[in-house]
Amino acid sequence: MMKTLKEQVIDNQLPRHVAIIMDGNGRWAKKKGNIRIFGHKNGVAAVRETTEAAAEIGIEYLTLYAFSTENWQRPRTEVDALMSLLIQSINNETSTLQKNDIQLQTIGDVASLPVNVQKKLNEVIEATKNNKRTVLTLALSYSSRWEITKAVKNIATQVKQNTLNIEDINEELIPTFLNTANLPDPELLIRTSGEQRLSNFLLYQLAYTELFFTPKLWPDFRKNDFYEAILAFQGRERRFGKISEQLKK
Ligand code: FPP
Repeated sequence: MMKTLKEQVIDNQLPRHVAIIMDGNGRWAKKKGNIRIFGHKNGVAAVRETTEAAAEIGIEYLTLYAFSTENWQRPRTEVDALMSLLIQSINNETSTLQKNDIQLQTIGDVASLPVNVQKKLNEVIEATKNNKRTVLTLALSYSSRWEITKAVKNIATQVKQNTLNIEDINEELIPTFLNTANLPDPELLIRTSGEQRLSNFLLYQLAYTELFFTPKLWPDFRKNDFYEAILAFQGRERRFGKISEQLKK
């Protein structure tokens, strides 16, 4: 019998960290003759499926770009609806997180979110803090340039206060000043909806990440689409600037 996509995944060659740019909710809704928020509402099922799929095969870290710094510029009604949807989804999905032993955390300028959203997030972060299988990180009011700017300011402050020497600033130190300090770099980035760009997401962290683009719009993304991306990743050779022969030694 043909193996399912999930069965084809090679257990000992999994990426530890998968990051996803969830894109295409608006276009999905438009295609159905509906308003944009209808697309966001239907994107929640894709978030649940992807999170479960990741936990089921043993992905340690899953990071989802849920709201960018630039998204604040969208019409007020859409921003408000997204914030309500976020609270509602976190409420409804807490049991999915507990059932699958998933820990929730956030990156981004969370202090800029409405206080009720912050409160809900903190509740669930606290409730899931001992969960071990997968860490689900939601990027909220996140942008990479914002994160890097903040890191540079913090590093400069420490140098000025003589708690850090300029000689000690290196490629290992810089990530400890980023929001993702407790996460390994993603080995795989998935972007849906056919767009092929990074949109200010994890620019430092994605230096050697494999990129996977699918034309599927986010609300249509399901477990099998996630497994397909993992399989594509497993078929690639990661050279990190070296040549093929050096890797086989
Ligand atoms: C991108 O589609 C999607 C977003 C900006 C929001 C993502 C939010 C969700 C999937 C819902 C709730 C989230 C969680 C984590 C429970 P787009 O609006 O940019 O689509 P378009 O490019 O077609 O306009």
